[in-house]
Amino acid sequence: MVVQEGFVTECTRMDKKRKENIMLMESESKIHALFLETSYVINNCGISDRKTAEEALKKSEQEVLALVDKLESLNKSMLWFLDILSHELRNPIATIASGLELLNLTADWDKFYKTKEILIRQTNQLCHLVDELLDHTRISSNKMKLKTEPVNLNQLAQLAVEDYNLLFEQKKIELSVDEGNQGPIYISADPQRLRQVIGNLLHNAWKFTNTGGSVILSLYRHNEKAFIRVKDTGLGIAADMIETLFDPFIQAETVQGHNSSGLGLGLAITKEIIQLHKGEIEVHSEGLGKGSEFIICLPIQEQ
Ligand SMILES: Nc1ncnc2c1ncn2[C@@H]1O[C@H](COP(=O)(O)OP(=O)(O)OP(=O)(O)O)[C@@H](O)[C@H]1O
Ligand SMILES: [Mg+2]
Repeated sequence: MVVQEGFVTECTRMDKKRKENIMLMESESKIHALFLETSYVINNCGISDRKTAEEALKKSEQEVLALVDKLESLNKSMLWFLDILSHELRNPIATIASGLELLNLTADWDKFYKTKEILIRQTNQLCHLVDELLDHTRISSNKMKLKTEPVNLNQLAQLAVEDYNLLFEQKKIELSVDEGNQGPIYISADPQRLRQVIGNLLHNAWKFTNTGGSVILSLYRHNEKAFIRVKDTGLGIAADMIETLFDPFIQAETVQGHNSSGLGLGLAITKEIIQLHKGEIEVHSEGLGKGSEFIICLPIQEQ
């Protein structure tokens, strides 16, 4: 066996019948660093065990190929993500730029106020994108922390609804709240984060429901658990999408062609926040065109 700089470069075995050395393995140049482990195995397995050495080499080759595949697919995902992100950032920025120009030129008050509304909306959209990216980074590095306190769930849900009332009105989607008759529900939660969660579900319901549809936000309690349910009469979700819907960057195919925006992060962040609250979230849909239902379940804290 010839070893150069820690790598096996040549490996032979004595053929007793022919009384000569038979080449088992010969590398034209140095074996790549990734095969160091294999070299070690070959080094230590003894010349007689050719099969073990070959198997170890084959295994390493397969591992390297799998690694290369993984890197390629990661690279593709990164390019795809940058493409989506650039579009999502470019749209509001372009609208803001032309809106500002228009504000500069127009002497028409009506146009001025309409443009101002658009500017506010697009700036909010930009902030939302950046917030989602920051949240995703925080979650990925385990840095998202909750500031929990006793929360009146009914009041919190009303605030979340107020945030979205205007959007629903503009798209002519009916938004109603069903608080049942069980009285206020108290839980221990981070009010900002929980409002964000309800907001995410309402925003999706708004985005994926056509004009004339309806959305109901229901609150109820059962067996020491509080439930928040957002049910819409919108586009619905195909059965094969349900399982991955809470994964980051997942957006259903059916959404293509639909006037949709976003990075596909809202539900991933929502699920993470709910899990930090020791709760669960699930989704139901009877299929495309049949609406969707998201149900959150949280532990109750009696006051
Ligand atoms: N109420 C709903 N009705 C139909 N499809 C939905 C609904 N909510 C979510 N989805 C599907 O799940 C996907 C992921 O939702 P998610 O909220 O994570 O991302 P997004 O809304 O596309 O973008 P973002 O929330 O990052 O702005 C959506 O793109 C859509 O395909
Ligand atoms: Mg969303």
